[in-house]
Amino acid sequence: MTLRIPAAPYAVQVETDEDAVAEAVAPRLLEALGESRPLGLATGRTMEPVYAALRRRIAGLPGLERQVLLAQWRSFNLDEYVGLGPEHPGSFSATMALALGEPLDLVPGRLQLPDGQADDPEAEAHRYGTAVAAAGGIGLQLLGLGSNGHVGFNEPPCGAQAPCRCLELSDATRLQNAAAFGGDPQAVPPRAITLGTAEILAADRVLLVVTGGAKAEMLRRALLEPPSVEVPASWLQGHPRLTVMADAAAASALPLS
Ligand code: GLP
Repeated sequence: MTLRIPAAPYAVQVETDEDAVAEAVAPRLLEALGESRPLGLATGRTMEPVYAALRRRIAGLPGLERQVLLAQWRSFNLDEYVGLGPEHPGSFSATMALALGEPLDLVPGRLQLPDGQADDPEAEAHRYGTAVAAAGGIGLQLLGLGSNGHVGFNEPPCGAQAPCRCLELSDATRLQNAAAFGGDPQAVPPRAITLGTAEILAADRVLLVVTGGAKAEMLRRALLEPPSVEVPASWLQGHPRLTVMADAAAASALPLS
């Protein structure tokens, strides 16, 4: 069901649960994959059912349509841990290979991420941001919401025009992401490369996907409080083509009508 926050320029699509959200997100990703500008992808537990739904949709396409889609695939992920490569199961490159690259047999290089193992992470961040710009910027940017209000790895405090860069992760984020590292926050790399709020806000369209009651209050702050450096996701309010998709639990603190 699509609902509105009074006076807000964007719609919030509310679905019963995370699987229903995933089913609603997947066709939008499929459509974006057919466009000239690359698709912006995200990682995180929120995206697991989304990518499962996308795989099912792609498997259901007629053969030729599927081949064309996969041959023209071009995506840029938001972020990667500094120091990790695809052989580390906690890396986002390994996550994406498992979720999409291997099951869809994508040609290497089509599913792009920052190189976490680059000798010079700052230079790699610059290269990656330049590559996104050279591709014409992102068409549709898929985003999850960090429990501390981050998008990508843009940790608070973060302004609206932060560029692609290498940065320190907060304790809150390392704790949030510890599950992929044996439950140990100290095992989560302390630094990451992320597309900035600048590249995210420059995308043609932004699709923010939020599930679970634990994020309800942060989603409310992101959408309803005045944009601020303390909640990086709040800068999305200024994007002219923002869509929010949430399950009922994540949307429970929003004054929707
Ligand atoms: C991670 C990623 C974000 C993601 C967010 C939410 O740290 N860098 O891109 O959206 O945190 O993660 P989850 O979906 O697991 O809650």
